[in-house]
Amino acid sequence: MPRSRNVALAVFVLMVPLWSSGCRKAPAEEFTLSDAIRALPGELQVAARTELREHCGSFSAPKLLGNDEISVEHLRAGQAVYQQQCAQCHGTTGDGNGPVGGFLYPRPRDYRKGIFKFTSTRYGSKPLRDDLVRTVRQGVAGTAMPSFKLLPQEQLDAVIDYVLVLTHRGELEEQIAAVADADGELAPEIVDDDLVPLILSRWAEARESIITPVTPEPEFTTERALLGRTAFLEKGCSKCHGDDGRAQTAEDPTKEDAWGNITRPADLTSGMLRGGRTPTDIYRRIHGGINGTAMPAFDQSLKDEPDTVWNMVAYVLYVTDRRRDGESPAPGYLRPYLPPTNDKP
Ligand code: HEC
Ligand code: HEC
Repeated sequence: MPRSRNVALAVFVLMVPLWSSGCRKAPAEEFTLSDAIRALPGELQVAARTELREHCGSFSAPKLLGNDEISVEHLRAGQAVYQQQCAQCHGTTGDGNGPVGGFLYPRPRDYRKGIFKFTSTRYGSKPLRDDLVRTVRQGVAGTAMPSFKLLPQEQLDAVIDYVLVLTHRGELEEQIAAVADADGELAPEIVDDDLVPLILSRWAEARESIITPVTPEPEFTTERALLGRTAFLEKGCSKCHGDDGRAQTAEDPTKEDAWGNITRPADLTSGMLRGGRTPTDIYRRIHGGINGTAMPAFDQSLKDEPDTVWNMVAYVLYVTDRRRDGESPAPGYLRPYLPPTNDKP
């Protein structure tokens, strides 16, 4: 087994007892307010809390924003799955701050920003519901996010709807905090007429921004992988991912992501592609970028050369399989930080 996978496995095995053993801390049973809301004066905090309750319900009676058809019972069923299977990492409020969240790299998703990485939609767009379903079914390779492929369909549907409750609650909370801070007041009409429709329209728009490859999927030959390698070097991929895809670059490539965590470019040779390893998955990562991270979208710069995207897919498939094919390049970094240098005192 490749070393990097061993390490990832060891990290995972070490973590399992943390959240499944007897010392497990039961996740909290109420929602917490964000720092931005808590920084508001007292009466605005009360107003914000009232609006959040009105539109998103409470822990004991959750509500899906803008949707009165989904029953509280269904959402409570989703909550039961969530509290048992997800809250240890993602936190009761969905802030990514569950009891084990802080030990993980990458950190569990903080849903409250409404930003998701592994979407089939263009850069900056919301995910489709199906994207969330796929992530939860498959897990995220090379991270702590497990696969829930054995979860019965009904429970999966319920837990996804509950993740959407938490996500929309977080998005509304962020908007409310910004408006209350700027205006010094919070008029319920602004929430009803502006903020809620704005959030819902962005999710509805995602259905119109699905990435569909312009040219059909080609055969992935060695020649194509070599063309992909040339493009990888010419189009700037190697600036972040290194010439060989291991993300070992001279310059410090670490960046802060949208959630305020330090991240670094993926080691494409790790054999573990977080966003999935089908050619279409990889095509979407390159075409649409990865929301919230430094991975840019290449749809604009490559719009006149759709085959170049496929060539790069071929190259990514080639490098990601190098270990499986018997070559063993040293792994890239598992964590975002650079290794310690010797010139420190
Ligand atoms: C052991 C910790 C852990 C558990 C348990 C866990 N997750 Fe995650 N989850 C993560 C991590 C870590 C990530 C971030 C992966 C990344 O950024 O590459 C994540 C990411 C996600 C994402 C975001 C995907 C995207 O496209 O951005 C969703 C949605 C998600 N998890 C849902 C769930 C649900 C639903 C459950 C329970 C059924 C669950 N997770 C259980 C750790 C966990
Ligand atoms: C400015 C830096 C930067 C550039 C330029 C860049 N990437 Fe990335 N790339 C990243 C980062 C950061 C990630 C990891 C995102 C995450 O999951 O947190 C990433 C992730 C990826 C992934 C997903 C890996 C996975 O685990 O699924 C692929 C594929 C990829 N990049 C390919 C490319 C290709 C091909 C190019 C050039 C066309 C490119 N990248 C250019 C920073 C960059």
